[in-house]
Amino acid sequence: MKNELRIFCPATIANISCGFDVLGVALDSVGDEMVIRKISKKGVFITTLEGQELPMETDKNVAGVAGMAFLAASDYKGGFEIEIYKKIKAGSGIGSSAASSTGAVWAMNELLDRPFTTLQLVEFAMEGEKLASGVAHADNVAPALFGGFTLVRSYEPLDIIPINTPSELVATVIHPQIEIKTSDSRKILKTNITLKDGIKQWGNLGGLVAGLFTEDYDLIGRSLEDHIVEPIRSILIPGFKEVKAGALGAGALGCGISGSGPSIFAFSKGKDTAEKVAQAMKEVYQKIGIAHDVHISKINNVGIRILK
Ligand code: HSE
Repeated sequence: MKNELRIFCPATIANISCGFDVLGVALDSVGDEMVIRKISKKGVFITTLEGQELPMETDKNVAGVAGMAFLAASDYKGGFEIEIYKKIKAGSGIGSSAASSTGAVWAMNELLDRPFTTLQLVEFAMEGEKLASGVAHADNVAPALFGGFTLVRSYEPLDIIPINTPSELVATVIHPQIEIKTSDSRKILKTNITLKDGIKQWGNLGGLVAGLFTEDYDLIGRSLEDHIVEPIRSILIPGFKEVKAGALGAGALGCGISGSGPSIFAFSKGKDTAEKVAQAMKEVYQKIGIAHDVHISKINNVGIRILK
């Protein structure tokens, strides 16, 4: 059996417009790398952290906290060392904390010959999310672990439903270089919604899930609307309206805030359209002078994977 694994931990888009805290999807071309190593000393130790300024103390690091939750539930007598090579920027809205916490517990599970189910790994990784944002949401960690699109049908008890990925769906994500902490962008949300908004939102959520399963791209596009969170959070994102209008004008099926922002995602049918959409989004930020990164990515249907 192996003693260490080098893995790719995917970035994820949470919420996907109409599914606040319940929908998410894993990306293929953006993610972190991690090395997880079995050691005889009990405990979880972060030995390397490159690419971002983040705490290395086990109890302050999302991978450390998720790893400790794994260890507490396991009868393994030893421990683990973790090396983290961040490529996803913290506070970018594409699941930076989820990549680290899921990577840790997924690799630990592999190294011990899979004592836990994927659903149990989601629960351990949610401890990392709780540390990062104050809330143990699963809409980034579930797609990172299961791959593809996932729906958190219920939190208590935890019930995750994997959803089909339409074969031609491509994501474009633009990240304006500002940082928005998930905890801050959750604080500004209202805790009550009107019945009228609820009706629109669950109509769209049902439509989006149906569209993903039947590969009905028009239905996916019609359903990518958010009447509850986007109107509030978009205020924090410079040029949001213009970027969205640009993406839709270039042929995107739909466009919205990625997770808690500031990244903005769009879905397109096919890579050519996704590239035109990226160009249109970039032009908006070039015009108003905001530094940005753009990613064009297929949907990642396997989640975390081992690197050679
Ligand atoms: N559902 C979470 C939120 C995702 O929007 O706050 C954070 O990435």
